[in-house]
Amino acid sequence: MTQQVLENLQLATMSTNGMPYGMVTDGAIVIDSATIAWCGRKAQLPEEYSNWSRRDLAGRLVTPGLIDCHTHIVYGGNRAREFELRLGGASYEEITAQGGGIHATLNETRKLSVPQLVEQSLSRIDALIAEGICVIEIKSGYGLDSQTELNMLRAARQIGMERPVTVKTSFLGAHLAPTAYCDHPERYLDEVCIPALEEAADEGLVDAVDGFCENIAFSATQLERLFRRAESLGLPVKVHAEQLSNCGGARLAAKYNALSADHLEYANEDDIAALKMSDTVAVLLPGAFFSLRQSQKPPVQMLRDQGVTIAVATDCNPGSSPLNSILLAMNFSCILFELTPEEALAGTTVSAAKALGLSNMGKIKPGMTANLAVWDVASPGEIVYPMGFNPLTERIYKGQVSTKLAH
Ligand code: NIG
Ligand code: FE
Repeated sequence: MTQQVLENLQLATMSTNGMPYGMVTDGAIVIDSATIAWCGRKAQLPEEYSNWSRRDLAGRLVTPGLIDCHTHIVYGGNRAREFELRLGGASYEEITAQGGGIHATLNETRKLSVPQLVEQSLSRIDALIAEGICVIEIKSGYGLDSQTELNMLRAARQIGMERPVTVKTSFLGAHLAPTAYCDHPERYLDEVCIPALEEAADEGLVDAVDGFCENIAFSATQLERLFRRAESLGLPVKVHAEQLSNCGGARLAAKYNALSADHLEYANEDDIAALKMSDTVAVLLPGAFFSLRQSQKPPVQMLRDQGVTIAVATDCNPGSSPLNSILLAMNFSCILFELTPEEALAGTTVSAAKALGLSNMGKIKPGMTANLAVWDVASPGEIVYPMGFNPLTERIYKGQVSTKLAH
């Protein structure tokens, strides 16, 4: 399919056209190799495309291909034991302090080679692809030594070659100070983390630099050391901010004009005011909120009032958010955080693209990459409202139908 007209479809373009979801009924899309050449009402299809080959989509709904803008999907082992401990009353912070949590995944991840990391991650990647994901962000952060951090990123790049999906990597060497450095986080940053970042950047493995700003991890001041280096390497930053307490992560994100500030349960008015002054996207992660059984919700209304862009992601990881479904992440964002289904879908398309610094994806518009998801539904709300049901019929990645599901 190099040049094709898709017709008999509805479009949720997620582009501003005065309609909710940027809807276009009785629509058509013209795909020219990997790019959307035209889209709109079929009746207005320009003459020049009239003899291109056509495909009838039987009235189905087409959205932009989905984007998961925050995952830790490359890892070894699992944390089922920790799940049991948390159900027994132990907190995430307590488990981390006792050498579990991220430390436990680190031990398992360090044991694996790059091919093993890839192999163990592919089934999780495939589950997301089957839900219409065309772009996925993958973080390091379960190595916390130079070799494993680099291996995680190499595995992420490899995944992007083995599957029809775009991978954006984030270096998360500042996830936690490993046990040997637990009382010396600055030394860890100087001796391990920053040199590992330099090496990884040198190898072309890093698209962004992330840090966990939290009592159990790094302070905003400590993270600045890393972010200054990121800046000098020309790399954008992002922050795990105000997930478990208010630690200044959102303000740090705003100061560095981060791509995103993620989690934000404990963000306050000043934090949101700071985000408003930046281009930083607020990424909400309802899977972690749900799984950690948190009660403090992110200040969604404040974000809306201040016009901060809101994205939604899985945070797929073995500990705080073992959520391997972007559809469920969208549903949870509505049920738990009171997003509208339109905000949830924007959160995994146009706003998620912004959170990854991608200007050519996330919308159906001429000139955009032809990443599309075709759903057997009559309205976009039907994508978000079921739990554990996937109405995707096909996924088009860079103009090619690459996933087909029976419906
Ligand atoms: O986004 N908050 C820090 N990082 C992850 C948790 C990682 C883990 O528990 O393994 C998160 O929730
Ligand atoms: Fe995370």
